[in-house]
Amino acid sequence: MKTKHTIQSLREVIEEDRSKGFTIGFVPTMGALHEGHLELMRRAKRENDRLVVSVFVNPIQFNNKEDLEKYPRDLESDSEMLLSVGCDYLFAPSVAEMYPVPDQSSYDFGALGDVMEGAFRAGHFNGVAIVVRKLFEIVEPQKAYFGEKDFQQLAIIQQMTMMLKLPVDVVPCPIVREPDGLAMSSRNQRLTAEERALAPKIHQILQKAVLLKNVLSPQEMRKWTFEQLSAIASFKIDYVEIADDKMLQPVQHWNDSEGMVLFVALFLGKVRLIDNLRIF
Ligand code: PAJ
Repeated sequence: MKTKHTIQSLREVIEEDRSKGFTIGFVPTMGALHEGHLELMRRAKRENDRLVVSVFVNPIQFNNKEDLEKYPRDLESDSEMLLSVGCDYLFAPSVAEMYPVPDQSSYDFGALGDVMEGAFRAGHFNGVAIVVRKLFEIVEPQKAYFGEKDFQQLAIIQQMTMMLKLPVDVVPCPIVREPDGLAMSSRNQRLTAEERALAPKIHQILQKAVLLKNVLSPQEMRKWTFEQLSAIASFKIDYVEIADDKMLQPVQHWNDSEGMVLFVALFLGKVRLIDNLRIF
């Protein structure tokens, strides 16, 4: 595996591979890698000749200073994990390399950008779109892999690639969970032992909720989920939402859309966790 810190040096090696006809698969990350990231990479490695992974904690997508400062960073341990999945190129740029001058681009994702994470984290998706577009332009992958853990982010990236007609195939990948059901996340490291013991309740409650689809309306299921989560005093809920799986708009009736997803975002202590589960 070759580690590259500059855009120029990464472009050179990728260009050489591309000239030989190799296909490029890409997994953008912010590091603090875990099994969830590694699954995306294993798939990317299977489906492409070369695997490029970026590790870049993108400051402009954080709307909370403490979250950015406390974001776990460990490039050495990340490198070891990347070796284990056969990563060819690790791209780990500095903030100055990515943003020599501030990038003022502004994206409008319409209704998709206004709900849930878009509503609770002002500017977040704009920052994600800026960095992902930049990374796509640097790496020029045929395929890029994103997790359904960040379901709305995935939908935003899909919309951006369609809007801008970017020549990349965005591949959705299922959520990887701990044995106790907690969705894997770099932020889980920041939970205290007591918080970590409570965290699996999120997935357990979502699982129970979706089983009630034959007896509850969407509004009732949403309320039921909210109440079950609220019963755990340490959970401070941002939102519980039931939305369609394309534009992520709230649904009123079960026949409003073919695909529907139950979403939750909450604080457990100082750590904000998100999760989702498909209903249909
Ligand atoms: P990060 O949170 O590091 O996640 C990188 C990729 O891994 C994302 O596509 C995310 O959805 C996926 N992922 C994380 N945990 C997962 C899990 N438990 N199961 C499946 N996939 C999982 O998302 C970002 O970084 C950034 O916003 C980024 C896209 C890199 C732009 O800065």
